[in-house]
Amino acid sequence: MTQQFNPKIWPQTTTSENGVIKIGGCSLSALAQQFGTPAFILDETDFKARAQSWFNALQIHFGENAGVVYYAAKAFISKEIAKWVEQAGLGLDVCTGGELAVAQAAGFPAARIEMHGNNKSESEIVAAIDYRVETIVLDSLQEIERVARIAHQKAVVQKVLLRLTPGVEAHTHEAISTAHEDVKFGFSIASGAAWDAVLAVKKHESLSLQGFHAHIGSQIFASDAYATSAERLIEMLAKYQAQFGEALPELDLGGGYGIAYVDSDDPLSAEDAIAQLSIAVKDACKRHGVKIPKISIEPGRAIVGPAMVTLYEVGTTKDVKLEDGSSRWYVSVDGGMSDNLRTALYDAQYSVSLVNRDSAAPLRASRLVGKHCETGDIVIKDVNLPSDIVPGDLLATPATGAYGRSMASNYNHMTRPPVVVVSNKTARTIIRRETSADLLALEVEEAPIGISAEIPAIGRGIGIGIEGVE
Ligand code: LLP
Repeated sequence: MTQQFNPKIWPQTTTSENGVIKIGGCSLSALAQQFGTPAFILDETDFKARAQSWFNALQIHFGENAGVVYYAAKAFISKEIAKWVEQAGLGLDVCTGGELAVAQAAGFPAARIEMHGNNKSESEIVAAIDYRVETIVLDSLQEIERVARIAHQKAVVQKVLLRLTPGVEAHTHEAISTAHEDVKFGFSIASGAAWDAVLAVKKHESLSLQGFHAHIGSQIFASDAYATSAERLIEMLAKYQAQFGEALPELDLGGGYGIAYVDSDDPLSAEDAIAQLSIAVKDACKRHGVKIPKISIEPGRAIVGPAMVTLYEVGTTKDVKLEDGSSRWYVSVDGGMSDNLRTALYDAQYSVSLVNRDSAAPLRASRLVGKHCETGDIVIKDVNLPSDIVPGDLLATPATGAYGRSMASNYNHMTRPPVVVVSNKTARTIIRRETSADLLALEVEEAPIGISAEIPAIGRGIGIGIEGVE
């Protein structure tokens, strides 16, 4: 029996023949043997094709008004990924000094970086301005003053966008929806905070307001939410034009495009998503009498999510009797919530396949769990698995590229898995597996240091010393 691998969920180069499952021409069994488990397997072809498809879609549908496709580094970043992103002509959205440091280490061109974050530290702002990042997206009144002051001190005129809250319900999990009113991000358009922020930015010669930004949430399928968000931002552009007699040149409409995790998910292709967005933007610009600005977007998940799978080995299976007399089969793998927090955090759904052999055994109601000391350590809550699974079998969960490795933790002193790139029958590690020695290396023995209660006010909060990133 040859298993079917839904191409919407599995990386593009996945093949299945007589129980041998390959990605990038490499058999998953051979990869497990070579690199161990758990491991993230990244399909280079798939990542690059998706990056290209978002780039092309923006060019095709916005033409001369195409801005930048900023790959959202938070989904997953490494130096190698930054290089692929650069080669594909994309920009990079970074939201911490750490993500910026990866971009810098990869030599990513500053002219294609934008810096996000609702609470950027002084040292992060300094690092961004010193690297001459193209755009800083401002998120609070204090930050407007902070960035203005630092840019002024460095004699730089910093291009900025204002992050606005368009008041859109994006129909996704509450924890990953960002543009309704009661959130920490951005300036509310409805309350007038957005306009106050415009006026605050205009006071500073060291800031050059380029336009507005909104990100309405993540794992979104509905294109009408993007249309509403664009409409409200364009209304603000019109208000600005009426007030100041000049047009702002840019709109960044954020990321959040959903991907398929299970068979029933039906995401839009890059082509369709941007085609619909362009209709909404052009229509709103016409109605509000503004010239179409340069449109940028920030997909993360939609580029890296489907390009990776997580490879696990089964360690134990257990039949658990339930109160209603039925039973549930618990299948434990050698990872869990330390490499995939999304099920515990967002009730996320995943699929899984047996990948070291074929099985014709009947399916059994199961729960796929990890090895952490916690009941909530679940990879898939309800899934039908072949009833002949035994310890030593290999399972792979697809679509784990986004917010998998990037949200991995060392809970229970688990070492984070490697990321192995596969392409053209070759495999190479781009992030190695952590070791217990790596974790122990963080422990220090130092003599007690006397700390005075009287810390000079000037030393506080400007990122020198204690928690600075420099
Ligand atoms: N732009 C901004 C300003 C963002 O905050 C985000 C994601 C993105 C772009 C990229 O969104 P994407 O295209 O990847 O959906 N950990 C959650 C997702 C949190 C997203 C945070 N911001 C998850 O695992 O679902």
